Amino acid sequence: MRPIAIVGAGMMGNVHARSYRTIDETSPLSIVDPVGSRAKVISDKYRAIAASFDEILADDEIEIVDICTPTFTHRDLVVRALEAGKHVFCEKPVALKIEDAVAMDKAAKKSGRVFMVGHVVRFFPQYIKVRELASSGDVGEIVMARLYRGGSFPSHGIDNWFADITKSGGVFIDLSIHDFDFLRKLLGPVRTVEARSVELSSTVKKHSFDHGMAILRFESGALAHIEGSWAEPADMPVGFGTSYEFIGTKGMITNSYERETTLRLQTSIDGKPLYSQENPILNDPYTEELKSFILSIEEGKEVPVSCEEATESLRVALAANLSARLLRPVELSEVS
Ligand SMILES: NC(=O)c1ccc[n+]([C@@H]2O[C@H](COP(=O)([O-])OP(=O)(O)OC[C@H]3O[C@@H](n4cnc5c(N)ncnc54)[C@H](O)[C@@H]3O)[C@@H](O)[C@H]2O)c1
Repeated sequence: MRPIAIVGAGMMGNVHARSYRTIDETSPLSIVDPVGSRAKVISDKYRAIAASFDEILADDEIEIVDICTPTFTHRDLVVRALEAGKHVFCEKPVALKIEDAVAMDKAAKKSGRVFMVGHVVRFFPQYIKVRELASSGDVGEIVMARLYRGGSFPSHGIDNWFADITKSGGVFIDLSIHDFDFLRKLLGPVRTVEARSVELSSTVKKHSFDHGMAILRFESGALAHIEGSWAEPADMPVGFGTSYEFIGTKGMITNSYERETTLRLQTSIDGKPLYSQENPILNDPYTEELKSFILSIEEGKEVPVSCEEATESLRVALAANLSARLLRPVELSEVS
């Protein structure tokens, strides 16, 4: 594997360092974080060299930079890394504003380097399976969907940055964007969003443990209901969970973290009812995601998650925030 520098030694920096070491035990890995104790955890555990951002940009040996910092820092760090000639991976959400995401995309195109955004849900086996079942036609055309993603508030963030909506974007932009992105990939462009959030739709501010609900109407006519939560109590036996229902013209696919056997398919093939259930085999999705990024560099292939796609997923999340604030449906064309 080519030499890589991870920027940000928090939760995701640790997850990515573990994945790179799974892919290659020995290749050079650098870690950048202004908090020395955080960088040291990764240096010690994953044999990484601590360095400054300027040092890694100036180091011609380092070809790949992986941005795992709080969202409000993404634009600046991504653009600087691309301008220094690095291939760049950036954690989701790509940015907090459309103009920032557009600037990042422009910088990537100008540099000619590979730029990928970490919409990791596309690499989770139970979501891969939905796309396979949808394209095989086994459930017919998907016309409705209901997705949940939630847990307790992410209090691990440095300086509590998740609690500041100007830094994290809140529950829709930070969390539900995973589902918005997956749904766009599955069902195509979104036309309108109607959303509410405890934080944004209330006149009493500063709940901080937000919970949001959004209804997406797609250009295809499909409808999806998405719930995202940071409101579950902390330190519960199950800290985080996801579930979904996809309803097609011929059948349905369901999945829930609350059941032992997670994925169920109910449909009919050639007029015969079919019921099946399975636990899709778990290849670590973060490792699969980063492998696909490296493969795009090695083989000159398109990245599986482009900046344009990540920008459109951000637009849906921004529409949800706007709708929750204005208490009315928002057209995607209103968000620029
Ligand atoms: N894909 C996923 O499943 C997933 C999950 C959680 C978070 N995220 C995203 O990953 C990103 C990081 O989240 P996190 O939970 O790891 O946050 P975190 O607070 O745990 O870690 C961020 C780290 O970045 C460091 N940092 C801040 N500014 C920096 C800079 N300019 N240069 C270098 N280091 C800097 C901080 O010191 C901190 O150690 C966010 O965009 C978040 O939305 C993605």
